[in-house]
Amino acid sequence: MARKKIGLIGAGNIGGELANLAMTRQLGDVVLFDIPAKENFAKGKALDLEQTSALLGKDCSVTGTSKWEDLAGADVLIVTAGIPRKPGQSRDDLVATNLPIIRDVADAAKKHCPDAFVIVISNPLDAMVYEYKRRTGGSRQKIVGMAGVLDSARFSLFLAREANASIKDVRTMVLGGHGDDMVPVLSHCTVNGVPIQKLVKQEALDKIVDRTRKGGGEIVGLMGTSAYYAPAFSAIAMAEAYLLDQKRLLASAVYLEGEYGYKDLYMGVPAVIGAGGVEKILELDLNDAEKAMLKKSADSVQKVVDIVKAST
Ligand code: APR
Repeated sequence: MARKKIGLIGAGNIGGELANLAMTRQLGDVVLFDIPAKENFAKGKALDLEQTSALLGKDCSVTGTSKWEDLAGADVLIVTAGIPRKPGQSRDDLVATNLPIIRDVADAAKKHCPDAFVIVISNPLDAMVYEYKRRTGGSRQKIVGMAGVLDSARFSLFLAREANASIKDVRTMVLGGHGDDMVPVLSHCTVNGVPIQKLVKQEALDKIVDRTRKGGGEIVGLMGTSAYYAPAFSAIAMAEAYLLDQKRLLASAVYLEGEYGYKDLYMGVPAVIGAGGVEKILELDLNDAEKAMLKKSADSVQKVVDIVKAST
């Protein structure tokens, strides 16, 4: 069987780390793509990583390009094209800059890699993945957004530290939009089946929910740019679930067609990812407070989607 092909659109901070992980985990041959002005940068990064593959003994190629033809037949595309946040900016502030970029990418991807499983990371995430689907007319099974895996990882880490528990035992789910209204679902959060409320006091839980919601901004404030290690690993987990047919249950931004009472909107929900892409969406029994938070989050996503729809 031929090696799989992994196309990474955007060779910046997240793109580079994605390439590193895809190579290290031998998911397939990696093509790191960027705009013509950054072609040599993409090529240099790719060469550095390919030389790392020699040290690690990994049989896969890593190449850099600015030509979409080189992405033809990609099995997976992970899109980070666009600009990241600067301190003080919200993800929604990026819409004007990143909207034309996602449209550009969608048009080219539709032509050159129509069969790929696509994971969008560019922000504002829910609106960007919405536009990607609208523009390409692709199926919701094959076009997802990465946010929930990352937000859940942040939530799990803060809880594990507070509960003095192993990170291996903490199970969490963060749903809704990838913004400050996201919904860390405490009612389904456990330490190996034990409800988190048995281990952590409500006051501490409230603080952790707040820190999770602002988890991206905390890093932007420290580094002056967006996080990239954990975002890259989160998308690789989704790509791997697809390529290896793992049927993982991962919080993913999925196009909703009535689930949770929402339609024509991308938002984070628990989804099973396997060889069929998004194979199933699970509807959790949320309590009234969680339903209200999800509504607030959906309203925030809708506002940005409305801006996207109004701009041609
Ligand atoms: N096609 C391909 N790549 C593009 C395009 C395009 N049309 N436009 C811009 N890019 C590239 C940039 O040249 C840059 O190399 O996207 C890359 C983005 O890299 P970084 O600036 O390092 O940003 P990064 O931290 O990787 O984040 C990318 O993901 O999490 C989101 O908010 C973040 O929207 C941002 C995106």
